[in-house]
Amino acid sequence: MTDVIDSQRVTIFDTTLRDGEQAPGASMNLAEKLKVAAALELLRVDVIEAGFPAASPGDFESVQAIARKVRGISVCALARCTRADIERAWDALRDAERPRIHVFLATSPIHREHKLKLSRAEVVRRAVEAVGIARSHGNDVEFSAEDASRTEPDFLVEVVEQVIAAGATTVNIPDTVGYALPTEYGETIAMLKRTVRGIDRAVLSVHCHDDLGLAVANSLSAAQAGARQIECTVNGVGERAGNCSLEEVVMAMHTRAASLHLHSNVRTTQLHAASRTVSRATGFVVQRNKAIVGDNAFAHEAGIHQHGMLQHPSTYEIMRPEDVGFRNPGGLVLGKHSGRHSLRQRLEQLGYQLEEAELEAVFGHFKTLADRKKEIFDGDLETLIDGLKGGPGGRWELVSIQATSGTGSAPSAAVCLQQRGGRQMEDAAVGDGPVDAVFKSIERIAGVKVKLRNFQVRNMTPGEDAQGEVHIEVDHEGRSYRGRGISTDIVVASAHAFLEVVNRIAAVRPRSAMAADEEVRCGAV
Ligand code: KIV
Ligand code: ZN
Repeated sequence: MTDVIDSQRVTIFDTTLRDGEQAPGASMNLAEKLKVAAALELLRVDVIEAGFPAASPGDFESVQAIARKVRGISVCALARCTRADIERAWDALRDAERPRIHVFLATSPIHREHKLKLSRAEVVRRAVEAVGIARSHGNDVEFSAEDASRTEPDFLVEVVEQVIAAGATTVNIPDTVGYALPTEYGETIAMLKRTVRGIDRAVLSVHCHDDLGLAVANSLSAAQAGARQIECTVNGVGERAGNCSLEEVVMAMHTRAASLHLHSNVRTTQLHAASRTVSRATGFVVQRNKAIVGDNAFAHEAGIHQHGMLQHPSTYEIMRPEDVGFRNPGGLVLGKHSGRHSLRQRLEQLGYQLEEAELEAVFGHFKTLADRKKEIFDGDLETLIDGLKGGPGGRWELVSIQATSGTGSAPSAAVCLQQRGGRQMEDAAVGDGPVDAVFKSIERIAGVKVKLRNFQVRNMTPGEDAQGEVHIEVDHEGRSYRGRGISTDIVVASAHAFLEVVNRIAAVRPRSAMAADEEVRCGAV
């Protein structure tokens, strides 16, 4: 009986920190990546793909830090099929309890001809050689045939067969450009199971992108056909339209277990917390109607639905909110009589893991807030913690803002920033509105110029003293950056969001490039 159940278990391979982070504007700093890794550990995914060590020193450092921290699950690093990449991946992974090296090479004719300029034979040779090098370091080696869904079936069979013979323990069949259809993709997996010699020596994996909105459907179809690893990301973040959404694919297997006969090890009650953690770390807002983790995922507005729900929840609910850790969406959670235990519990549901001393500090501020504000909502708690932790950290902190607007005079702002470990600096500007004037003042102080791409405001909590959340997205030197700020004052929230963007830019830009200009432009306070 156990064997039967286990043969239906699907390994959940999370690539939020690698493919997810490749989404424009989703880049995370080390502290944010460690928080995401901790959330994935709590979620009990089977494999965390922590990054691509050869891509940058920052990527190497974060893979190494995650490899040293995470216990009980595999930590994976991506490498191209070159010795240098594989050695770099192994260096980053060597302290992991369960290291996995993941090598990839494109196999489709389009990639072979236009990108790689390699023959079929050369692709096979390089793939086999890379798997051999990776196996010389460890027993857990994955090979990905990039753009597999557009590869000739006979060649795909050959590649899969050869990399298994060379020692690959997992072989991934990515739908790199999100082109596959569920029936056809399932058939590819079934064909590989039928045809490839030695297929039982490796786990077949799938990795679907969502360009046609079919990533989850394709992954499930592949798993029904025999794939036993699904690669996915929390909130479906990833390049272009994103990757297969972890929470959706896991809950589909969970909710429809009787039909699919598939299951995973994921603790579904941690899904909501993981989603919040990833949203905070990447700055990507989860749309309200997002399946499983969106604010409206369990909300019933229509009278007829509410009536049915009151009679029996199963009339309109196929999952219980608590199954995904969605206890009290946006609702009243705590008040001034709430104790440390309730506070900790609620914070954990929001994805915060606090040390005892941190909880103590938060509890003190929570009590002060509860004296002022009768009703404490999730948004209030997130604001409080983000404020105490100083956001994601960075070179600049906001000291003060004065902004004016109205009819008959040009909107203007004066901003004072504190440079971490340095001086306070201030500047002023006029703009198209008070928010624009604040942005211009910050740009002048920090010595960066950005192009604003997107500006969104939404309420985080209900009521007159509602917290507003501002999300912005900017372009700077060919890269996109996101920032988020929360306050009861939209201008202040905008300043925090803009400062987060500036701090993210500062983190990837040499200090000297910004510092020289700062001295010239701004008066020290
Ligand atoms: O989409 C893709 O093909 C990838 C591979 C590197 C697995 O991300
Ligand atoms: Zn991918």
